[in-house]
Amino acid sequence: MQPGDGMNTTATFADAAVEEKGAANGNSGVREPVTVVLFGASGDLAKRKVIPAMYDLAQHKSLGPRYAIVGFSRTPMSDESFRKTVEEAAKSISEVGPIDPKKWEEFASNLYYQAGEYGNLEDFKKLAKRLDALSAEKDLGGNRLFYLSTPPEVYPHIVEQLGRAGLAKASSPDAWVRIIIEKPFGRDLASAKELNKIVLSVFDEKQVYRIDHYLGKDTVQNLLVLRFSNGIFEPLWNRNYVDHVQITAAETLGVERRGGFYETAGALRDMIQSHVLQLTSLVAVEPPARFDATAVRNEKLKVLQSARPYDLGMVATAVVRGQYGPGVVDGKPVPGYRQEPGVNPHSRTETFVAMELLIDNWRWAGVPFYLRTGKRLAKRSTEVVIQFKRAPHIVFRERLVEDNRLVLNIQPDEGICVSFGVKKPGTEMGIGNVAMNFSYRQAFGDGTRSAYATLLGDCVRGDATLFDRGDSVEAAWALVDPILDVWSAAKTAAVPIYPAGSWGPRESELLLERSGRRWYNP
Ligand code: BG6
Repeated sequence: MQPGDGMNTTATFADAAVEEKGAANGNSGVREPVTVVLFGASGDLAKRKVIPAMYDLAQHKSLGPRYAIVGFSRTPMSDESFRKTVEEAAKSISEVGPIDPKKWEEFASNLYYQAGEYGNLEDFKKLAKRLDALSAEKDLGGNRLFYLSTPPEVYPHIVEQLGRAGLAKASSPDAWVRIIIEKPFGRDLASAKELNKIVLSVFDEKQVYRIDHYLGKDTVQNLLVLRFSNGIFEPLWNRNYVDHVQITAAETLGVERRGGFYETAGALRDMIQSHVLQLTSLVAVEPPARFDATAVRNEKLKVLQSARPYDLGMVATAVVRGQYGPGVVDGKPVPGYRQEPGVNPHSRTETFVAMELLIDNWRWAGVPFYLRTGKRLAKRSTEVVIQFKRAPHIVFRERLVEDNRLVLNIQPDEGICVSFGVKKPGTEMGIGNVAMNFSYRQAFGDGTRSAYATLLGDCVRGDATLFDRGDSVEAAWALVDPILDVWSAAKTAAVPIYPAGSWGPRESELLLERSGRRWYNP
């Protein structure tokens, strides 16, 4: 474990990567106490995801033998009312299953609250005092984890005040200080670079954990396990055998109560730049030499660096956007995006993106990756489809042949399906397409952990493998930036409208049809 040193303006991401080599990996138990400070504690994400994940970790003794969780946000509140608010939220919307009242009571006795302004040094000094007092009272030692779950505009203020209040440095050589930063990390390349600069003027890269909750999902991590723990898939996983790859992250939900935020984001920023490019990196990545933060993240970065940059012409031909209009989802009529609360009635924000991505390296040259995400689509499903090339020479009469596909279902019906052709019973030589299915639920039951619990647990253990490094975040923005630029310059271009409950605009189909391909809808 590395002590958290303070100011460091010169460290590069690569230097940091080398220092991380010794970071803990695996499931070693947590033997040291920790204090977590949760900024944005009264917000939705904190209550729905982060605190329930901490409860889950506490039940598995993965937060440490002793811990304190200090909520910090602007709303004045006592410890007691903070405990009540988060309990209500956890009980109604928690992802971690039913909450046991006795266990919750025990957990809640470790919750505290401190109100303050994110840009106010005095409030951070008060926080520092409170942390010292708690540490003395509960024998918590000096390990501290700061979690930024606020609106992204205040990240720079919090980071700067943590630095000024002396909270970014560990209090002793054997203690650590880490910071988890929620997505979105910036809103384009320039702002991501600026944020990295601010964060790295206060923290070392090895202290920084940029979270993308998709990497905490078991099925996403399984992309690496499937590829690199088996001998049978990897030999086929390249341009010689793969025709193309499809990655779909489809949601049936609309923008819910986040219209205001979504208006400033859109699907390219909200889903493609982060979750979908993470999935792409894991599908395309070269085998890392080891499963550790440095090796895995170095290889993932190379994928983004090999992606062919979008120019004006490619944005026009290889990227499709759309926005949902009124329609029917799960049998119920739903309003269009422009009718959602907080949304401009003339909004041109995209709620759907489909794009062709080319990866210019030896493994993937000439193999298109088709990426697609959207809100209010026909079905909630995140899926990776590896479409294999057809048999090179068809010996059967009537050119009978079937598609070979490997489908990795990331959510919600987690599993893997391989499809291939077999001889249909009977006197005729007929070929039918069949599937071999593996279901996570059937094989392992329902006991999956929330992605947030996995990632928080990793951070407490000092394992950054499943977190994003500063250079990768910038590489992902560098890839989508030209698309954002073209769209923002084309102020009058129409954004195709698709009916809620469909698979997106017709243009998305055309993107594949022009090369004789089609989307495999989940
Ligand atoms: C978030 C996006 O990062 O991911 C949301 O901001 C999206 O718009 C969500 O709905 C999807 O996450 P999941 O885990 O439900 O697929």
